[in-house]
Amino acid sequence: MRFPRKVRIVDVGPRDGLQNEAKRVPTEVKIELIHRLAEAGLPAVEAAAFVSPKWVPQMSDGAQVMSGLRRKPGVAYPVLVPNLQGFEAACAAGAEEIAVFGAASETFSRKNINCSIAESLERFAPVVKAARVRKMRVRGYISCAAGCPYEGEVKPQAVAALAEKLYEMGCYEISLGDTIGVGTPRRIRAMIDAVAKKVPTAKLGGHYHDTYGQALANIYASLEAGVRTFDSSVAGLGGCPYAKGATGNVATEDVVYMLDGLGIETGVDLMKVLRTGQFICSELGREPASKVARALAAKDS
Ligand code: HMG
Ligand code: MG
Repeated sequence: MRFPRKVRIVDVGPRDGLQNEAKRVPTEVKIELIHRLAEAGLPAVEAAAFVSPKWVPQMSDGAQVMSGLRRKPGVAYPVLVPNLQGFEAACAAGAEEIAVFGAASETFSRKNINCSIAESLERFAPVVKAARVRKMRVRGYISCAAGCPYEGEVKPQAVAALAEKLYEMGCYEISLGDTIGVGTPRRIRAMIDAVAKKVPTAKLGGHYHDTYGQALANIYASLEAGVRTFDSSVAGLGGCPYAKGATGNVATEDVVYMLDGLGIETGVDLMKVLRTGQFICSELGREPASKVARALAAKDS
């Protein structure tokens, strides 16, 4: 097996990682987290979500987060946008890249964004069009790519069909979300193989939550399938408010450690991410979920 020379990591910690925190994280802490991640070498840091504050109160300060950012050249700071209202707010706040987010499961789509899959595509189309007029890049997420908390099994073909529509709509990359972390390498591989028939593998991202401890194995299987972009979250923070019991994304520290060991370049400084994880975890009053972070911290002490 030949692995790629380089992999791109998108740290979704400031958004996916924090959106489910019950206690409000101060805006300046979010900004500091984003700055530290960019300084650690992450090429993309998902910074905020312009969603309804009633649905996800933790993300209600997106405009303040974006206006407080000191942008590092070459780093992307995408934000989540569910509709035109969110898009306009994101533009007003100075966002330069957005992400629309759909689901391969009807029930999850309704629970998460209050509409069917078909309706979500109707909402996204004008958003993507407007973004492209402004020369903004648009990422497309698909939740429940390996299973749904409400419907159980999700067919790879359902993921592939939605991926094709989002790609044709103009998304430059489709991030395949195992929202509840139920996927195993064989299942993930079957899903990617189905999607790859519709969207070039180079345009896919793996977004794996680590609820069942499968995320690193799933990344390895995805690398074998040709995927070159992975989402992760510093310290393994996170969860989705509409997927009960789902834990955080795979930890950035764990992904970097594995890729370093495979000789794959990420441009990310493991020790800087480790310290960033310690920073945000001390703000949240908990230990990092990353095994690598815990092992390195124990070695240090
Ligand atoms: P809705 O209630 O159907 O919206 O929610 P509506 O259009 O009927 O409007 C109702 C109210 O919401 C109105 O306010 C609107 O102004 C307001 P009111 O008149 O009642 O005061 N509203 C908004 N406010 C701020 N920003 C907006 C916006 N849109 C409407 N953009 C909506 C529909 C999509 C807005 C709602 O369902 C929502 O915000 N959902 C977001 C849920 C969310 O953020 N989930 C987590 C992110 S997805 C995820 O984590 C998965 C991912 O990580 C991948 C994976 O792991 O699978 C990406
Ligand atoms: Mg997620």
